[in-house]
Amino acid sequence: HSKAVWSRLLHFVHQFSPCSPSPTLPGPLSLPLLGNLLELAHEHLPSHLTFLASRYGNIYRLKCGNTTMVVLNSGDIIREALVKKWSDFAGRPHSYTGDVVCGGGRSISLGDYSEEWRANRRLAHNALQRSCQESLEGVIQKQALHLRQVLLDYNGRAVDLSEDFTVAASNVITTLAFGKQYEKSSAELQRLHGCLNAIVSLWGSPWISALDSFPLLRKFPNPPFTRLLKEVARRDDIIRTHLNEYKMQAPGKASDGAIAITGSLLQGLGKPQRGVVLTDTHVHMATVDLLIGGTETTAAWLSWTVAFLLHRPEVQSRVHDELCTTLEGRYPQYSDRHKLPALCAVISEVLRLRPVAPLAVPHRAIRDSSIAGYFIPKNTVIIPNLFGAHHDPAVWRDPYAFKPERFLEGGGASARALMAFGGGARLCLGEAVAKMELFLFTAYLLRDFQFVLPEGQANLPDLTGVASVVLRAKAYKVVARARPGA
Ligand code: HEM
Repeated sequence: HSKAVWSRLLHFVHQFSPCSPSPTLPGPLSLPLLGNLLELAHEHLPSHLTFLASRYGNIYRLKCGNTTMVVLNSGDIIREALVKKWSDFAGRPHSYTGDVVCGGGRSISLGDYSEEWRANRRLAHNALQRSCQESLEGVIQKQALHLRQVLLDYNGRAVDLSEDFTVAASNVITTLAFGKQYEKSSAELQRLHGCLNAIVSLWGSPWISALDSFPLLRKFPNPPFTRLLKEVARRDDIIRTHLNEYKMQAPGKASDGAIAITGSLLQGLGKPQRGVVLTDTHVHMATVDLLIGGTETTAAWLSWTVAFLLHRPEVQSRVHDELCTTLEGRYPQYSDRHKLPALCAVISEVLRLRPVAPLAVPHRAIRDSSIAGYFIPKNTVIIPNLFGAHHDPAVWRDPYAFKPERFLEGGGASARALMAFGGGARLCLGEAVAKMELFLFTAYLLRDFQFVLPEGQANLPDLTGVASVVLRAKAYKVVARARPGA
């Protein structure tokens, strides 16, 4: 409480002090009623926000209806807010549409900071950790071998691999969550991804975000919002069926003998922790969080990696040589990562250039605070522009170039400067899962295949991407040429 009083007092002094260095945050001109809606409706929002940083500095404000947003564009400033002052900025903005999507705020990713949220995150974190220790590496290796077979079956044909990457990433999560995996053609998988994809893309659309900032619009018909409601109902139906099936079998174990996350989550219900009792709805929403958080992110990252490697085939050869020399023919283990610096450098460089959650998830100031010396009042929405931080010319030399060698000895860059998973209380819950997936999937793929452009095609994949909540590569075709002995 005294912290809040002090920061209010500081703000007051700042405002009226003639020698105040910078009492108000810079930012573009805000139009009456609309505020900066036009800036926010930009097609590639992460790069537009990065462009605005070159004009207004690494911290600036935008307005939308009656909401003030503060955009953070450098690693130092993002760390100050998310890590150093995590307890001031660990909230999530309340939003009308967010409540619809996340079961009245009971999800981990969109739920606001509270004892209930902490208990839910702790339970999911422990369940995930337990399942990772028991079975993660085996589960990923199995999916990597399955993906290898899918690529072999293409027999050198030019194909778009994005769906295969989605199936592989999704199967890791569904195996961990409820011991299930699907074939690409399975109707159940199509239904699940159909609605999760629709929710993510509809929710990022300006027609729907406008309902949060302009409540009057809720009184008018809004077809995209009606569709969102339908997809959320479909998602809940699918997850409920899975959870019920799981409870009926009550095995406690997934098919490969590992404890599935759902089992651990269900075991944690009904036991009060610091006055909080978690319910079925929490398990339901935690499952949704893992499925949404863990599928499109990893899959998008794999598509980006292949796209960048097509631009620099010599990097691909270097990683392949490193894998051959170090592993002498065997498949890699996660513990081999310290012996494979060229591969790890590619992973870091793709995470730097295309952090697949480029604007993280918006945070909310829980109390009055400050960032970079600016007063930040309670309820301000904070946008960590991870994409901007990863392109900051003060930190990264030649920031727009794909140069994995910057992470190798003498290259001058450190993977510790990356922020692709956010930080602090809201650090990506699946960071450990994602890191192992990125490493093993890439190692398996580059050991057995050479990715080349289809014959007669001169155009390299577009590297701009399509930015929504997840930053995806535009569709492209590639040939996965099997290496001798694959
Ligand atoms: C949140 C990145 C994979 C589950 C986040 C955030 C980022 C992120 C930036 C927001 C952090 C913030 O709000 O400050 C990534 C990247 C991934 C990845 C780059 C892969 C390349 C995964 C996986 C899972 C997952 C595999 C699940 C197994 C989550 C969840 C949250 C989250 C549940 C919400 C955390 C919270 O609000 O407390 N992720 N993620 N993510 N991620 Fe990931």
